[in-house]
Amino acid sequence: MNEKNLPLTSERLQTLAENIPTPFYLYDEKAIVENARDFNRLFSWAPGFRNYYAVKACPNPSILSILKKEGFGSDCSSLPEILLSEASGITGENIMFTSNNTPPEEFAAAYKAGAIINLDDITHIDTMIEALGEVPSLICFRYNPGPQRTGNAIIGNPIEAKYGLTSEQIVDAYRIMKKKGSKRFGLHTMVASNELDGTYIVETARMLFELCVKIQEEAGVRLEFIDMGGGIGIPYKPEQSAMDLEAVSEGVHELYKQIIVPAGLDPLNIVFECGRVITGPYGYLVSRVRHVTSKYKEYVGIDASMSDLMRPALYGAYHHITVLGKEEHKSDHVYDVTGSLCENNDKFAIDRALPEIEQGDLLVIHDVGAHGHAMGFNYNAKLRPAEYLLHPDGSAVMIRRAQTYDDYVATLRFDGAEVVL
Ligand SMILES: Cc1ncc(COP(=O)(O)O)c(C=O)c1O
Repeated sequence: MNEKNLPLTSERLQTLAENIPTPFYLYDEKAIVENARDFNRLFSWAPGFRNYYAVKACPNPSILSILKKEGFGSDCSSLPEILLSEASGITGENIMFTSNNTPPEEFAAAYKAGAIINLDDITHIDTMIEALGEVPSLICFRYNPGPQRTGNAIIGNPIEAKYGLTSEQIVDAYRIMKKKGSKRFGLHTMVASNELDGTYIVETARMLFELCVKIQEEAGVRLEFIDMGGGIGIPYKPEQSAMDLEAVSEGVHELYKQIIVPAGLDPLNIVFECGRVITGPYGYLVSRVRHVTSKYKEYVGIDASMSDLMRPALYGAYHHITVLGKEEHKSDHVYDVTGSLCENNDKFAIDRALPEIEQGDLLVIHDVGAHGHAMGFNYNAKLRPAEYLLHPDGSAVMIRRAQTYDDYVATLRFDGAEVVL
């Protein structure tokens, strides 16, 4: 049995894979748009609500442009991500620059682009002002609550995390920027990643709302927005349930009425930087089986490798696998599904119960629409796969071609002729 949806019928996907060289990524435009609209609708009560889509999740201008049409901004962690956003029509304050360990020239470029600068450290104030040549009117700080909150496996415990200003530093940071002349302020945090428990998000809102009140009382700074970061999870495993975002929205709304309104801080804009929950479930990696082998275990070798999708190897992450055409077959075989890297952790699944698999079968790896292609790499000189967008009318268009050998060697100097010293 296949418990996860496919974006097309199994037959149509198989036909598509006859015409497109595998492996390839496929993104379902209609599902992404509907999901983005739902997200906006659920938080429509919130002043200035918007999601700045985390570009790192799926840095493809076609995806960013689709989200822009739904009113999304972009959250960027580097200058190239800012440039990609601009190339997708997302400009100025529609860009949140949430970086860390930031080079001064990226502060300068972000400021020039009109992006909102979200500072990760109190010492960055001086570096940034020097890089900008002036004090920005609008500034945001990333807060790390340390021992007040527990993180989760992917992002780690806040007390161990390299990100953000501590509870000791955060109020001072606003005092300093107010004194220097900033006029508009935001507050950011991100304390969880791939979290499915909605109460965690509600508690994060409580923490930020209370901090807004404290910053108002102790630094005389009224915040314009809070940025709740990303980190809303998706149900990678068929038996998991999606976060109840309606309940989260209601919970945050209640707290808003209890904390923000009585403190006279309404309206306070509420924004997120979610990536995974927006596109994650609507991306598919389609790969063909090269070899089925039997050693001390049973192996299915496919034509994708961990260089195309590294989450399973990196985090032991589960990604559901459908064997096309065998959806109704019993999962009565147990396989390790591997790539072709010379790394034994190059596996998409370990001891996975699947229908009997034969050479040439097509596998669909689910939930790769965020932090999938984006995390790919070139180890073993593996070339990166193409990305396709499935339009609502069923047509598929290439939105990134596969890497070629020429791309791979484009930065190499074969003649070794450049003298650097
Ligand atoms: C600063 C920041 N914002 C947003 C995100 C997006 O997270 P997610 O895709 O899990 O929502 C990330 C992910 O690593 C991040 O580092």
